[in-house]
Amino acid sequence: MRRALIALLGAGALLLAALVAVALPAAAAPSTLREAAAAKGRVFGAAAAQSHMGESAYASTLDREFNQLTPENEMKWDTTEPSRDAFNFGASDQLVAHAQAQGMKIRGHTLVWHSQLPGWVGGISSRDDLLSAMRNHIAKEAGHFAGKIAYWDVVNEAFQDGSGARRDSVFQRVIGDGYIEEAFRTARAADPTAELCYNDFNIDGQNSKSNAVYALVKDFKARGVPIDCVGFQAHLTLGNVPSDMQANMQRFADLGVDVHITELDIRMSTPADGSKLATQASDYKKVVSACLAVSRCTVITVWGVTDKYSWVPDVFPGQGAALLFDDNYGKKPAYEASLEALGGADPGDPGDPGTVTCTYARTAQWDTGFNGQVTVKAGASAVSSWTAVLTMGSGQQISGLWNGTPSTSGNVVTVRPVGWNADLAPGASASFGFTVNAPGGNQAAPSLTCGSP
Ligand code: XIL
Repeated sequence: MRRALIALLGAGALLLAALVAVALPAAAAPSTLREAAAAKGRVFGAAAAQSHMGESAYASTLDREFNQLTPENEMKWDTTEPSRDAFNFGASDQLVAHAQAQGMKIRGHTLVWHSQLPGWVGGISSRDDLLSAMRNHIAKEAGHFAGKIAYWDVVNEAFQDGSGARRDSVFQRVIGDGYIEEAFRTARAADPTAELCYNDFNIDGQNSKSNAVYALVKDFKARGVPIDCVGFQAHLTLGNVPSDMQANMQRFADLGVDVHITELDIRMSTPADGSKLATQASDYKKVVSACLAVSRCTVITVWGVTDKYSWVPDVFPGQGAALLFDDNYGKKPAYEASLEALGGADPGDPGDPGTVTCTYARTAQWDTGFNGQVTVKAGASAVSSWTAVLTMGSGQQISGLWNGTPSTSGNVVTVRPVGWNADLAPGASASFGFTVNAPGGNQAAPSLTCGSP
């Protein structure tokens, strides 16, 4: 009897185990940056501008991929307090509401900075007056958003490149070294729940400037000045991720602050091409991996959603293509690399071996151009979508494309289905065609790779 009961219990346990196994299939790898980052206990953000939020592809890409939003300009002093003690939070309130509705954290950017500063601040020459203007600005702005901001960039870019000396600014000149400390103390009082960060560029690796910031953080920690995090802007150039980025972030973390990558972009000379985009992908992977290797590196934020609106071409003429999505919101190799580094997988990754093969044929040609056709063929199993990546030769440009949806970044054209030709039964194929303008007469076949789904 007792043995029978035990056997019954054993069978019951087995049955339960089988049920659990059915009910809990192995989780698929996360397929967006925000999900993949969350699975690693990290946050993946983007800078966003209220002026683009009406563009549906912009907002939907932002919402799908990112779980932290940094207002690109809307919280800067010239916008929020254009004249003394007259505050304007219109655009920033809209971004905050959007972020909250999407479950995104908000990075406040930035309270005290020498740039995008209204003229009236620069005109103040008495120490007491400037201290009181700065304290009022921080108290009113951080106070306005109190409770809604996860991280504040309290002071931005206070050190000089090269020497690591303090940057010459009205705050430095009129108030002196103590202005940074004053700013942090005022911010803590105005919003006790936000993490307070110092943020700067060219401090991603170890150099005299990051050494100066390190000394500041160490001093603040020793004296109990409130500081919780350091933001590494990481405005990088192609092929130049500092090899000691991880070690540099780690030494800050060891001081007892979180470290954030706050404005990541990796610019290249334009136009982009396949090899530059591949280098950029490996650069992004290095940055993401460096952050993941530092337990206190909790946030990675890119400085924009799409190359279409990046600040880079305006400020660095001839350079661009610095972000994860191209001008048409297509995912770049850097996107795939970042997602993979986070342990995610893109179901539409053109780099996946996939189960499709593709072939190219020239269907017409003339002196200054030609027509091409790509046929994508499923292997032994059906596919529900496919991707073909064409790298155009020099002097070639696609002027028209049919039966496919192109997304262009420099000379790389990623083609996805139009809808009706996405599903392919085993062994079935779909074709798309295109016209290439080649004024120089370059009729060479574009190089072609494809994947699925
Ligand atoms: C840039 C914005 O992206 C531009 O739209 C604006 O015209 C200038 O400022 N470091 C920073 C950011 O901390 O605030 C800057 O943002 C880029 C460099």
